[in-house]
Amino acid sequence: MSSPCVSSIIGTGSYMPEKILTNEELSKIVDTSDEWITTRTGIKERRIAADNQATSDLATAAALRAMESAGVKPEDIDLIVVATVTPDMPFPSTACFVQKNIGASNAVCFDISAACSGFLYALQVARNFLNAGTRSTALVIGAEKLSTLVNWTDRNTCVLFGDGAGAVVIRAVDSATEAPGRVLSTIMGSDGNLVNLLRVPGGGSACPITAENIDSRLNTIHMEGKETFKHAVTRMCQASEKALEMAGLTKEDISLVIPHQANARIITAIADRLDLPHEKAFMNVDKYGNTSAATIPVALDEANRQGRLKRGDIVLLVAFGGGFTWASSVIRW
Ligand code: ACO
Repeated sequence: MSSPCVSSIIGTGSYMPEKILTNEELSKIVDTSDEWITTRTGIKERRIAADNQATSDLATAAALRAMESAGVKPEDIDLIVVATVTPDMPFPSTACFVQKNIGASNAVCFDISAACSGFLYALQVARNFLNAGTRSTALVIGAEKLSTLVNWTDRNTCVLFGDGAGAVVIRAVDSATEAPGRVLSTIMGSDGNLVNLLRVPGGGSACPITAENIDSRLNTIHMEGKETFKHAVTRMCQASEKALEMAGLTKEDISLVIPHQANARIITAIADRLDLPHEKAFMNVDKYGNTSAATIPVALDEANRQGRLKRGDIVLLVAFGGGFTWASSVIRW
């Protein structure tokens, strides 16, 4: 290639497990109701992976669909990055399991841990490889089996999360060409001072798995919901504005926002702060709940397959998650 490389999304895919867990069913497990969950979060149901499905199985199914939509073969893929907080095991990486499953023998593979911002972090890391010219075609996947981290006795958190996977194929293209799906900008941020607000305290080196720790449910998600909510809205708005500015665009240019799907109230708050009509904010949190790193690639794939993305549209992706971490990316479709 004569001109410098840029990165373009050339295919999208997603996979959601078959089993549906409704609010009604949850209200038989904990003291909650469809009415409470719907009004506070917008969630109606979520998907739960089968016992014999690991995160890499969800990731593989999404990856194969993205590869089919991009028209690429396994041997074309030379980088696989999986964003997840529910890896198959501490090591090897979930990305290596995906590599084995799809037969992408030319790929370099690793995982990224940035909670719900993971997919956009992974997109930026992969984009840096492609723009530097050291890799040409990457699979970027967000995949989670959060049902394994949920405390099914805690109504504050168990109603919020679900399982699923989404993927994109990105390719290095000549910057002189007008390739569709071009990633125009990505910004990322983190604030480690707030690690305690959203975390799984047990199961790592700080607090290894013991029978006692499992009895205290330290191996499950702990969240300060109200604080997380406030930071999520502020950081996602700031990140969106910065990513737009970096791309040389304004709010008026946005065709569709695809925000992290954690809570419908967070999504409408972001749309309001960006002065966007609510129809311009993509929402599927009602069907899937919060699938952490998977929400954005799943939503992007749905928007793509529903024909909501037209050539030339400006699409803003924005996420927030544990860490805290946040990120935003602007794509010209
Ligand atoms: N059913 C019924 N009542 C409930 C439930 C439930 N499922 N959960 C909580 N309540 C009760 C609480 O006990 C509380 O009762 P109290 O007043 O008697 O103490 C009451 O409802 C209100 O609880 P709040 O915490 O004030 O509810 P809030 O309106 O803040 O909604 C929620 C809670 C949905 C968790 C919200 O704060 C939220 O969405 N936070 C952000 C989550 C998020 O964005 N996460 C993003 C990242 S996730 C990641 O990185 C993995």
